[in-house]
Amino acid sequence: MSDTKASRSAADDGARLLVYGAYGYTGRLIVEAAVERGHEPIVAGRNRQKARGVASSLGLQARCFTVEDAAGHLGDVDAVLNCAGPFSETADALVDACIETGTHYLDITGELAVFERISRLGSAAADAGVTLLPGVGFDVVPTDCLAAHLHRRLPEATHLSLAIEADGGISPGTLKTALSDLGSGGAVRRDGQLRHEAVGARTRVVDFGDGFRRAVSIPWGDVSTAYHTTGIPNIDVYLSLPTNARRAVALSSSLSGVLDTDAVKRALSWLVDRSIEGPDEATRAGGEARVWGEARTDDERVVSRLRTPETYELTVETALRCAEKVLAGDAAAGYETPAGAFGPDFVLEIPGVERVDLVDGEVVDRETDESEADEGETAADETAAGE
Ligand SMILES: NC(=O)c1ccc[n+]([C@@H]2O[C@H](COP(=O)([O-])OP(=O)(O)OC[C@H]3O[C@@H](n4cnc5c(N)ncnc54)[C@H](OP(=O)(O)O)[C@@H]3O)[C@@H](O)[C@H]2O)c1
Repeated sequence: MSDTKASRSAADDGARLLVYGAYGYTGRLIVEAAVERGHEPIVAGRNRQKARGVASSLGLQARCFTVEDAAGHLGDVDAVLNCAGPFSETADALVDACIETGTHYLDITGELAVFERISRLGSAAADAGVTLLPGVGFDVVPTDCLAAHLHRRLPEATHLSLAIEADGGISPGTLKTALSDLGSGGAVRRDGQLRHEAVGARTRVVDFGDGFRRAVSIPWGDVSTAYHTTGIPNIDVYLSLPTNARRAVALSSSLSGVLDTDAVKRALSWLVDRSIEGPDEATRAGGEARVWGEARTDDERVVSRLRTPETYELTVETALRCAEKVLAGDAAAGYETPAGAFGPDFVLEIPGVERVDLVDGEVVDRETDESEADEGETAADETAAGE
């Protein structure tokens, strides 16, 4: 990183944040919250009219460029927060431009392949004095912090399982990202290596704190990031779904060859743009997400859980806090995960997050004051066929 950028960043004095994809559903929420916190981010994206529209409504500067041309537009920028997904289409070029120009890079991806590719650029980024911190949203801050916390509780753990359950709606960009990823299938980590398999190939029954739910395996980013954060060599991630959605996952796996064709993806994206809007303010304010995690050895097992605000609300908070910490010089140069950079307790800084620790089904620790009776966890955990 150039001297000017490095010294300005470390002092957090006039450090400049650029939000790319700032006029998308999530990008706009992040920019609005940044302004409320006293920042003046640059509103950027590939569409001049849309970027100017958001910038002028908030009194901010707009910048228009494609990801391929990014290097020419980052000379005076200290950190880029990329909100333009699918990140499989934007992250590589923006990360390259950030390393070239000595600019820190953050994004809100949850895409496994994107994490894997960015992690390989860690030493180039370290040489350039640049932090690469993808996954600063709901994917993967809470799960990554829970993974690090479970590893702290059981350092010799050989297996890690994580599961997610979320209320509320979904934005068009998230749905398009999920669609674009469907053809890639699912993945778990075994003996330190990625193993590809169908989405939903495994199921588990999980108690998120208010009764048991059946969850299916998904290729969440943690299959990459939790390994980087903890070194635990065997990792599965599950998503709790209602029955009809579980059937859809099974169907999508059998259709994955069809869904992988560009023409079908383009048609579905077009449809999503016209038929889906992101969750409104009331849905975001009233929603909640729950995360469950288990670390184990052959003869020991620990379980912890998190309750968090609704996923987009949490994403706005965690993304901005990560950007502020990176701009303040609190993250090392090179590739970082959220918990790797800021520790397992980072997620507890977010208002409304609660963490509970269990041993043998009994709650042994609770990390916020918002206590409600907790019935603990009984023996209904169930490992899928194939384990
Ligand atoms: N980590 C998390 O928990 C989390 C939370 C929320 C969202 N997300 C992810 O964030 C992404 C955005 O979600 P959203 O709800 O904000 O979607 P959205 O409303 O559709 O916005 C997407 C934004 O990305 C831009 N974009 C897409 N492809 C681009 C490309 N090739 N080059 C330049 N810009 C491009 C779009 O610009 P144009 O209008 O010019 O196409 C738009 O500004 C999705 O991938 C979603 O899965 C993650």
